[in-house]
Amino acid sequence: MKRIKIVAIVGSLRKESYNRQLALAAKELIGDRADFELLEYHDIPLMNQDIEYPAPDAVKRVRDAVKSADGIWFFTPEYNHFFSGVLKNLIDWLSRPISDKEPQVLAGKPAAISGISPGMSGTGLAQDHLVTLISFLNMDVMNSPRLTIPNAMQQIDTDGKLTLKESYPYLEKQANAFINFIQRRMHDLS
Ligand SMILES: Cc1cc2nc3c(=O)[nH]c(=O)nc-3n(C[C@H](O)[C@H](O)[C@H](O)COP(=O)(O)O)c2cc1C
Repeated sequence: MKRIKIVAIVGSLRKESYNRQLALAAKELIGDRADFELLEYHDIPLMNQDIEYPAPDAVKRVRDAVKSADGIWFFTPEYNHFFSGVLKNLIDWLSRPISDKEPQVLAGKPAAISGISPGMSGTGLAQDHLVTLISFLNMDVMNSPRLTIPNAMQQIDTDGKLTLKESYPYLEKQANAFINFIQRRMHDLS
Protein backbone atom coordinates (compact mmCIF):
# COMPACT_ATOMS: atom_id res chain seq x y z
CA MET A 1 0.00 0.00 0.00
CA LYS A 2 1.24 3.50 -0.82
CA ARG A 3 2.63 5.68 1.94
CA ILE A 4 -0.08 7.76 3.59
CA LYS A 5 0.02 11.54 3.32
CA ILE A 6 -1.76 13.63 5.93
CA VAL A 7 -2.21 17.37 5.51
CA ALA A 8 -2.84 19.28 8.74
CA ILE A 9 -4.91 22.45 8.59
CA VAL A 10 -4.62 24.70 11.64
CA GLY A 11 -7.38 27.28 11.97
CA SER A 12 -5.12 29.84 13.66
CA LEU A 13 -2.43 32.01 12.08
CA ARG A 14 -0.92 32.88 15.47
CA LYS A 15 2.78 31.95 15.65
CA GLU A 16 2.54 30.37 19.10
CA SER A 17 -0.93 28.94 18.45
CA TYR A 18 -1.82 26.10 20.82
CA ASN A 19 -3.62 24.39 17.94
CA ARG A 20 -0.49 24.65 15.82
CA GLN A 21 1.50 23.16 18.68
CA LEU A 22 -1.10 20.38 18.93
CA ALA A 23 -0.64 19.68 15.20
CA LEU A 24 3.13 19.51 15.66
CA ALA A 25 2.66 17.07 18.55
CA ALA A 26 0.46 14.95 16.27
CA LYS A 27 3.16 15.03 13.58
CA GLU A 28 5.71 13.76 16.08
CA LEU A 29 3.34 11.06 17.27
CA ILE A 30 2.62 9.86 13.73
CA GLY A 31 6.37 9.61 13.14
CA ASP A 32 7.29 7.56 10.09
CA ARG A 33 3.83 6.02 9.73
CA ALA A 34 2.81 8.79 7.30
CA ASP A 35 4.02 11.97 5.64
CA PHE A 36 2.58 14.85 7.62
CA GLU A 37 2.47 18.33 6.07
CA LEU A 38 1.35 21.35 8.02
CA LEU A 39 -0.45 23.53 5.48
CA GLU A 40 0.76 27.16 5.39
CA TYR A 41 -1.94 29.45 4.02
CA HIS A 42 -1.43 32.89 5.56
CA ASP A 43 -0.92 34.30 2.05
CA ILE A 44 -4.22 33.30 0.48
CA PRO A 45 -6.47 36.30 -0.20
CA LEU A 46 -10.01 36.79 1.05
CA MET A 47 -12.45 34.97 -1.22
CA ASN A 48 -13.55 37.35 -3.94
CA GLN A 49 -15.18 36.00 -7.07
CA ASP A 50 -13.56 38.79 -9.07
CA ILE A 51 -10.18 37.06 -8.61
CA GLU A 52 -11.38 33.46 -8.52
CA TYR A 53 -10.32 32.41 -12.05
CA PRO A 54 -7.49 32.01 -12.71
CA ALA A 55 -6.83 31.12 -9.09
CA PRO A 56 -4.11 33.10 -7.29
CA ASP A 57 -0.82 31.18 -6.93
CA ALA A 58 -1.25 30.76 -3.18
CA VAL A 59 -4.64 29.14 -3.73
CA LYS A 60 -3.18 26.81 -6.36
CA ARG A 61 -0.47 25.79 -3.87
CA VAL A 62 -2.90 24.88 -1.08
CA ARG A 63 -5.20 23.10 -3.53
CA ASP A 64 -2.33 20.97 -4.79
CA ALA A 65 -1.36 20.08 -1.23
CA VAL A 66 -4.90 19.07 -0.33
CA LYS A 67 -5.38 17.19 -3.59
CA SER A 68 -2.30 15.08 -2.90
CA ALA A 69 -3.42 14.20 0.65
CA ASP A 70 -4.96 10.90 1.73
CA GLY A 71 -6.40 12.55 4.82
CA ILE A 72 -6.95 16.04 6.21
CA TRP A 73 -6.56 16.65 9.94
CA PHE A 74 -8.14 19.89 11.16
CA PHE A 75 -6.86 21.59 14.34
CA THR A 76 -9.37 24.27 15.14
CA PRO A 77 -9.47 27.06 17.69
CA GLU A 78 -12.83 28.29 18.93
CA TYR A 79 -13.78 31.89 18.15
CA ASN A 80 -17.14 32.89 19.64
CA HIS A 81 -18.31 29.28 19.70
CA PHE A 82 -17.44 28.94 16.04
CA PHE A 83 -14.34 28.08 14.05
CA SER A 84 -12.17 30.95 12.84
CA GLY A 85 -12.77 33.22 9.87
CA VAL A 86 -9.40 32.36 8.33
CA LEU A 87 -10.37 28.68 8.29
CA LYS A 88 -13.75 29.47 6.70
CA ASN A 89 -11.99 31.56 4.05
CA LEU A 90 -9.57 28.73 3.28
CA ILE A 91 -12.37 26.18 3.04
CA ASP A 92 -14.39 28.51 0.81
CA TRP A 93 -11.49 28.60 -1.64
CA LEU A 94 -11.03 24.82 -1.45
CA SER A 95 -14.77 24.26 -1.93
CA ARG A 96 -14.77 25.67 -5.44
CA PRO A 97 -14.19 23.61 -8.58
CA ILE A 98 -10.73 24.04 -10.04
CA SER A 99 -12.18 24.39 -13.54
CA ASP A 100 -15.10 23.23 -15.71
CA LYS A 101 -13.47 19.81 -15.82
CA GLU A 102 -11.91 19.47 -12.37
CA PRO A 103 -14.05 19.31 -9.23
CA GLN A 104 -13.24 20.73 -5.82
CA VAL A 105 -10.49 18.94 -3.89
CA LEU A 106 -12.14 18.21 -0.53
CA ALA A 107 -14.85 15.76 -1.61
CA GLY A 108 -14.26 12.22 -0.43
CA LYS A 109 -11.19 13.08 1.65
CA PRO A 110 -11.03 11.46 5.10
CA ALA A 111 -11.09 14.17 7.78
CA ALA A 112 -10.24 14.22 11.48
CA ILE A 113 -10.88 17.10 13.87
CA SER A 114 -9.07 18.19 17.03
CA GLY A 115 -8.91 21.42 18.95
CA ILE A 116 -7.71 23.07 22.13
CA SER A 117 -9.08 26.16 23.86
CA PRO A 118 -8.73 27.91 27.22
CA GLY A 119 -12.49 27.64 27.74
CA MET A 120 -14.62 24.76 28.97
CA SER A 121 -15.89 23.60 25.59
CA GLY A 122 -12.46 22.55 24.35
CA THR A 123 -13.55 23.73 20.86
CA GLY A 124 -16.45 21.25 20.79
CA LEU A 125 -18.89 23.90 19.58
CA ALA A 126 -16.51 25.08 16.86
CA GLN A 127 -15.98 21.46 15.82
CA ASP A 128 -19.72 20.85 15.46
CA HIS A 129 -19.97 23.79 13.05
CA LEU A 130 -16.92 22.55 11.17
CA VAL A 131 -18.47 19.09 10.82
CA THR A 132 -21.59 20.68 9.30
CA LEU A 133 -19.50 22.55 6.74
CA ILE A 134 -17.14 19.78 5.70
CA SER A 135 -19.96 17.22 5.56
CA PHE A 136 -21.78 19.55 3.16
CA LEU A 137 -18.61 19.46 1.08
CA ASN A 138 -18.74 15.65 1.07
CA MET A 139 -15.65 15.07 3.17
CA ASP A 140 -15.49 11.66 4.82
CA VAL A 141 -15.53 12.73 8.47
CA MET A 142 -14.17 10.51 11.23
CA ASN A 143 -16.75 11.49 13.86
CA SER A 144 -15.27 9.33 16.56
CA PRO A 145 -12.87 9.90 18.12
CA ARG A 146 -12.72 13.65 17.94
CA LEU A 147 -10.38 15.43 20.34
CA THR A 148 -11.56 18.39 22.43
CA ILE A 149 -9.05 19.79 24.91
CA PRO A 150 -10.55 22.31 27.40
CA ASN A 151 -8.76 24.45 30.00
CA ALA A 152 -5.71 24.80 27.76
CA MET A 153 -3.82 26.88 30.31
CA GLN A 154 -3.48 23.82 32.55
CA GLN A 155 -1.33 22.19 29.87
CA ILE A 156 0.76 25.22 28.91
CA ASP A 157 4.07 25.87 30.66
CA THR A 158 5.39 29.30 31.67
CA ASP A 159 7.02 29.74 28.23
CA GLY A 160 3.70 29.23 26.45
CA LYS A 161 4.62 25.73 25.32
CA LEU A 162 2.02 23.01 25.14
CA THR A 163 2.96 20.15 27.46
CA LEU A 164 -0.08 17.93 26.80
CA LYS A 165 0.37 16.41 30.24
CA GLU A 166 -3.12 14.91 30.41
CA SER A 167 -4.25 14.91 26.80
CA TYR A 168 -1.35 13.08 25.17
CA PRO A 169 -3.01 9.60 25.36
CA TYR A 170 -6.13 10.98 23.68
CA LEU A 171 -4.09 12.53 20.88
CA GLU A 172 -2.33 9.20 20.45
CA LYS A 173 -5.67 7.39 20.30
CA GLN A 174 -6.96 9.77 17.66
CA ALA A 175 -3.77 9.53 15.58
CA ASN A 176 -3.99 5.73 15.57
CA ALA A 177 -7.69 5.83 14.71
CA PHE A 178 -7.13 8.26 11.85
CA ILE A 179 -4.34 6.16 10.32
CA ASN A 180 -6.68 3.13 10.46
CA PHE A 181 -9.56 5.16 9.03
CA ILE A 182 -7.43 6.33 6.09
CA GLN A 183 -6.00 2.86 5.49
CA ARG A 184 -9.50 1.36 5.34
CA ARG A 185 -10.55 3.98 2.77
CA MET A 186 -7.40 3.37 0.70
CA HIS A 187 -8.05 -0.37 0.85
CA ASP A 188 -11.68 0.13 -0.29
CA LEU A 189 -10.49 2.19 -3.24
CA SER A 190 -7.78 -0.27 -4.34
C1 LIG B 1 -12.28 36.44 18.30
C2 LIG B 1 -12.01 35.44 19.40
C3 LIG B 1 -13.06 34.73 19.94
C4 LIG B 1 -12.81 33.76 20.92
N1 LIG B 1 -13.85 32.98 21.38
C5 LIG B 1 -13.59 31.92 22.19
C6 LIG B 1 -14.62 30.99 22.52
O1 LIG B 1 -15.76 31.08 22.09
N2 LIG B 1 -14.30 29.93 23.32
C7 LIG B 1 -13.02 29.77 23.81
O2 LIG B 1 -12.78 28.78 24.52
N3 LIG B 1 -12.03 30.63 23.50
C8 LIG B 1 -12.28 31.70 22.70
N4 LIG B 1 -11.27 32.55 22.34
C9 LIG B 1 -9.92 32.35 22.90
C10 LIG B 1 -9.14 31.39 22.02
O3 LIG B 1 -9.64 30.08 22.23
C11 LIG B 1 -7.66 31.44 22.40
O4 LIG B 1 -7.14 32.70 22.07
C12 LIG B 1 -6.87 30.33 21.74
O5 LIG B 1 -5.55 30.37 22.25
C13 LIG B 1 -6.87 30.47 20.22
O6 LIG B 1 -6.28 29.36 19.61
P1 LIG B 1 -4.74 29.34 19.18
O7 LIG B 1 -3.93 29.31 20.47
O8 LIG B 1 -4.59 28.08 18.40
O9 LIG B 1 -4.46 30.58 18.38
C14 LIG B 1 -11.48 33.54 21.38
C15 LIG B 1 -10.43 34.29 20.82
C16 LIG B 1 -10.68 35.21 19.83
C17 LIG B 1 -9.52 35.96 19.19
